[in-house]
Amino acid sequence: MNAIKVSFLFWLLLLVAFSLRAQEQHNYDESKVPDFTLPPLLQNSSGSPVKTTRQWERIRRPEILSLYKKYVYGHSPESTGQMVFQTINVSSKALENKAIQKEVKVLFIGDKDTVDMNILIYLPKSVAKPVPVFLGMNFYGNHTIHRDAEITLHEKWVNNSQRLGISNHKVGETSRGIRANRWPVERILERGYGLATIYYGDLFPDHAEGADDGVQRLYGKQHIADSTGWGAIATWAWGLSRAMDYFESDDNIDPARVIVMGHSRLGKTALWAGAQDQRFAAVISNNSGCGGAALFRRKFGETVAIINSNFPHWFCKNFHRFNGMEEKLPIDQHMLISLVAPRPVYVASAVEDRWADPKGEFLSAFYASEVYGLYKQEGIKNAVMPPLNKPIAASRIGYHIRSGRHDVKVFDWESYMDFADLHVR
Ligand code: GCU
Repeated sequence: MNAIKVSFLFWLLLLVAFSLRAQEQHNYDESKVPDFTLPPLLQNSSGSPVKTTRQWERIRRPEILSLYKKYVYGHSPESTGQMVFQTINVSSKALENKAIQKEVKVLFIGDKDTVDMNILIYLPKSVAKPVPVFLGMNFYGNHTIHRDAEITLHEKWVNNSQRLGISNHKVGETSRGIRANRWPVERILERGYGLATIYYGDLFPDHAEGADDGVQRLYGKQHIADSTGWGAIATWAWGLSRAMDYFESDDNIDPARVIVMGHSRLGKTALWAGAQDQRFAAVISNNSGCGGAALFRRKFGETVAIINSNFPHWFCKNFHRFNGMEEKLPIDQHMLISLVAPRPVYVASAVEDRWADPKGEFLSAFYASEVYGLYKQEGIKNAVMPPLNKPIAASRIGYHIRSGRHDVKVFDWESYMDFADLHVR
C-alpha cells in the first residue's frame, strides 16, 4: 500500500470514528436523564416577577424572543425587501371539481439578483370564502404532495432520498405524489380547510452551503457570517411569514385563520415562525424534537452537539457554543412554545420516535402552560403524558402521542383539524 492510500484510509477511519461518536452520544435511558432546572418563564432578566399579560408582552416576551435570535435560530432581516406575487397557475376545477388550485410565485428582488419561492394552494370550493388555511412546508417539492398533474414540477435542487428514489438532486414526473401519504389534501378540503405548501429548499437548500443558493444571498455575506445571523430554520420560517404576506392580499384566504404546521425539521420551523409572527392563528409541531418542542436539558435522543454536527447550517453560529452544555443555554423549549401564547398550539409526538424525545416534547408543552395561565387560558393541566392515541384537544395547548414512527399520519391531521375546529374556527 502506498503512502497516499494509507493516508486516505487514515482519514476515512477518522471520519467514521467521528460520525460513530456523534451517533453514540445519544441517550435513550430515562434513568440517565440528568436533573435540571429550567430557566424561569415568568421572571424578567432583572429578576422581577411577571404577573400580568402586559408585563409579559412588554418585557418578558421580547426578552425571550431576543435570546432565541441571539443564541439559537439567529436574526432574520427586519425588512422583507422588494417582493412581487405572481399567480402563475389557477384552476377552478381541480381535484374533480372540488377545489380551486393556485400556484403563486413569490419573487424576492435584490439589488443584482432575484430568488423565488412557489406557494401551492388548494381551497375547498364548497366553503364560503375567505377560508381558514393550513400552511406547511414540504421536503421534496410541491408536486410530491399530490399526484395532481396540474402542479408545476419542481426543477431546482432537492434533497436526495434513497427511499423515495431521488438521486442527483433532481426529480422527474415519476416523483409526482411520492409524499402524498403525508398530505391528505382531499380530506383537508372536505373538512373545510385550505392547504398551502412551499418547498423549503426554495428558501435555503438543506445542506451546509445552501445559504448561497437561497434567499440569504440577497442579504449579503456579512449577515450570514455573523454569529447571530439567521440559520436555515430561521430562513425557512421567514419564508412562511412571506407566504402570510401573500395571504393578506388574497380575498379567498382568511389571513386571521392561518394555521402554520410542520413535521420534524419543518416542525421546528413552524414553531419558530409562529413564535415570531403573531399573525399565525395557531401553530402545530409534528415530531419536531431537538431544536423544536423537545426540552434540550433532558439530553434524551438527539442533543445539541449531535444536531450541530450533523446539520451545521440549521441554527446560528452562537448555538454551537452550547454543544454538550445544554444547561448553560439561557432558554429551553417550553419558552419557545410560550411565545405562541395565548394563541392555540399543538405538539404531537410518536411513541417510536425516541430520537425526538416524546417526553421532552410533552414537558415543554406542559411547562409553557404557565404563560397561558396568565391569559386565563387552560394549557396542559397534568404533568403526566396522556395515553397513546388520546389527544388532549380541549385546552389551548393540544398534545398527543400516537403509536408508530416519526411521520405524519392521517391520525395526526385529523387531530389537528379537530383542534382547529375548536380553537380557530
Ligand atoms: C434528523 C434530525 C432531526 C430532524 C429530522 C427530520 O433526524 O436529526 O432533528 O427533525 O432529521 O427533519 O426529518
